[in-house]
Amino acid sequence: MNFEDSMRLAVRRFLLPAGLLLVTALWLYQSQPIGSPRSGSSWQGYALGGLAAALLVWLGALGVRKRRYFSADNVRGWVAAHMVLGLAVVVVVLLHSSANLGWNVHGLSFVLLLLVVGSGVCGAVFYLVMPPLLVDLRQGTSREEFLGELRAADERCLALGQRCNPEVELAVRSAITGTLLGEGLIAQLTGKDHSTAKLPAQDGGAESSAQANADQAALQRYLAAAVVESHNPQHVVHLQNLVLLIARRRELLRRIRTDIRLQGWLRAWLLVHGPLTAALLAAVFVHVFVVFFYW
Ligand code: HEM
Repeated sequence: MNFEDSMRLAVRRFLLPAGLLLVTALWLYQSQPIGSPRSGSSWQGYALGGLAAALLVWLGALGVRKRRYFSADNVRGWVAAHMVLGLAVVVVVLLHSSANLGWNVHGLSFVLLLLVVGSGVCGAVFYLVMPPLLVDLRQGTSREEFLGELRAADERCLALGQRCNPEVELAVRSAITGTLLGEGLIAQLTGKDHSTAKLPAQDGGAESSAQANADQAALQRYLAAAVVESHNPQHVVHLQNLVLLIARRRELLRRIRTDIRLQGWLRAWLLVHGPLTAALLAAVFVHVFVVFFYW
């Protein structure tokens, strides 16, 4: 069962319980005596607060449940309920506080709640959008297979470079060793290519200098110029084959980088959602403590 099925399950199985929960919360809210200001300090306010806190603890416990039980169907059911109740809890909290929020620990809890729910919605969108993009990108090939093909292309490029001249060989070798893939979280998520290559100076000087080689563009320009300038027919053939091979290498690198980026977003949002949940639960704990002992 994939994530789309979890969404369908969420709508089919948990929308009615969530609706009943909201109706109960609304009933509690409106049953507060007319005339007195509606707030969390009536018995209905305490009941709504207790309900919200229990929901938050249950929602937060998904991290533990997910890792402890291995039945995929169970986890899908929990995730489905998690999404529906995660949205419903915002309404329960608003009714609990009568939307009276200030710049204090109580307001902070609400801001954290919105951040957790916002990041949860982003994650759900990622789970829906990214997998079809990954399937489209991979076309039945795994990342390991792409990496295997890349290694094979590297070896063929080096062999062809050796058959040309030492300058071309150095350029190709440096472009291969200077190729960066998935180095650092930011580069993974943005897909930015910081690869470099040591190419001979443009003015014809013998000194090779390291330069940016994003998308293997600098190496391709250098090889295209070398094809035009070479007077050795044998070298021209090798250089032309190199140009074709580098184009294939570039295509493979693009695919692997996009694969890393999509997979990265699928994982990285949890690094926001999880810690924000911990901060939210801590803030709610302080909120309850302050209300009972200092308010
Ligand atoms: C106050 C509300 C919420 C809390 C406290 C909460 C908390 C959590 C926690 C602790 C996890 C597990 C993190 C981990 O495995 O590292 C999680 C996962 C998740 N949450 Fe939330 N969440 C909330 C609201 C939402 C909402 C509104 C949505 C989407 C509409 C959502 C979508 C998800 C998804 C898709 C997962 C990943 C499940 C998986 O890995 O299979 N969450 N959430």
